[in-house]
Amino acid sequence: MATEHSSISEAVLDSSIPIEKPGDETEAGNYFVANYPPFSFWEQDQVPIINQTLDGPVGDTDLGLYFHIPFCRKRCHFCYFRVYTDRNAAEINGYLQAGLKEFRTYAEKPYLAGRKPKFVYFGGGTPSYLSVNQLKELTDGMKACFPWEETEEVAFEAEPGTLTEKKLEALREIGITRLSLGAENFNDHILELNGRAHRSPELHRALKFAQSLDFDQINIDLIAGMVDETEDNWKNCIEQSIKYGPECVTIYQMEVPYNTTLYKEMKSAGKLTAPVADWATKRRWVSYAFDEFEKAGYTVTSATTVVKNPDKTKFVYRDKLWEGADLLSAGVASFGHLGGVHYQNNHDIGPYMMALDDGKLPIYRAYQTNAEERVLREFILRLKLGKVTASYYIDKYGVDPRDRFEKPLNYIVEEGFGEIDGDEIRLNREGLLQIDRLLHEFFLPQHRNARYA
Ligand SMILES: C[S@@+](CC[C@H](N)C(=O)[O-])C[C@H]1O[C@@H](n2cnc3c(N)ncnc32)[C@H](O)[C@@H]1O
Ligand code: SF4
Repeated sequence: MATEHSSISEAVLDSSIPIEKPGDETEAGNYFVANYPPFSFWEQDQVPIINQTLDGPVGDTDLGLYFHIPFCRKRCHFCYFRVYTDRNAAEINGYLQAGLKEFRTYAEKPYLAGRKPKFVYFGGGTPSYLSVNQLKELTDGMKACFPWEETEEVAFEAEPGTLTEKKLEALREIGITRLSLGAENFNDHILELNGRAHRSPELHRALKFAQSLDFDQINIDLIAGMVDETEDNWKNCIEQSIKYGPECVTIYQMEVPYNTTLYKEMKSAGKLTAPVADWATKRRWVSYAFDEFEKAGYTVTSATTVVKNPDKTKFVYRDKLWEGADLLSAGVASFGHLGGVHYQNNHDIGPYMMALDDGKLPIYRAYQTNAEERVLREFILRLKLGKVTASYYIDKYGVDPRDRFEKPLNYIVEEGFGEIDGDEIRLNREGLLQIDRLLHEFFLPQHRNARYA
């Protein structure tokens, strides 16, 4: 991709974007597997079940809190999250008050009363879009409902251009332990073309100052395969990331879900293929990054992460979630999981705020998982770590995954993506880099070929 495009519509119309492996082009859709069963199976008529759980006896699993902050400076062309770019301070304050009301309502439910979260996650959207005062008010209110004294990790997503020194200091004070920066790329043309609000000077400034503040963990997100990415530029991004030596780096392969600006452009131009590298190239780029990070002393700890010191740096939110912990999620469009029941809040801020105004929880769909689905969920999500042991599932569920999942595991071994070595089920690099595709092999027949979201 040598041509520099001046807009994404120009890139969409350019048919000279090289394809490394025909048939492997990036087409529209959600490929990343974040949960099971897929969201499209969650139903409005199962909402009463989550209410029954909340009114039932107190839960005894680990608890986490999630709050979704759906505000951003700009909407990135590749982004599929629920975000608003046009809200003023008063509207944002109203939203935060609604969120706190939601937490207070949950804190009174018998299933949650008195429980202390092991982990807290602020996601978005852009949590760092909030002002220092808003952040303090929000976190004080949350702590009053669910105290943080037993909390091992407080993770916070930040867009580099929204971070001032004052805000970073406030984040440390509030108790944020894992600061995650949406770097995505270090090249200004690529950042601009893909609709990012930040540029590289803001990224450098935020990284340097954050590193001087002694957060337990700084993570940076990168995306392999942004529009106009090149071989040389990608190498340069990895080199610059390594120079900063963050505790953790998360590398996503660019996907183009239907609800993105990029897809809208493709649709109006009648194109099925997105103007980004094909999957083979994206895998090669992530593999290159993994190799370079390994040379610099990092360890690959999942399909998307490298960690400088895996003994010290954990990602409690991800690990607990994948192990089936309770996740009390609040905020518009957020996803939670309580007592084996999945649930999602209203998609739009209007109905979300109205429900809370009426004294109701803003839950819009739910799904009661059964025992088989819970084992499957925990198996496939943890397979993204690259290796799991059979004994873990035998001890926890009395199920040997080597028998339960014999067919898809055989497929993985026969296709040369991994091996079963006694107790251990391991993926190799090729398998790890296309794990999201392979996971569909494990889905129950009724959940296959469904639109994921
Ligand atoms: C909620 S954002 C992180 C915080 C903040 N909103 C930001 O972008 O800086 C979560 C991350 O998802 C990743 N992401 C978003 N859209 C993506 C896509 N279409 N393909 C791959 N990764 C994507 C980006 O790396 C982004 O940093
Ligand atoms: S990628 Fe981050 S900054 Fe961009 S629109 Fe999505 S949530 Fe907002």
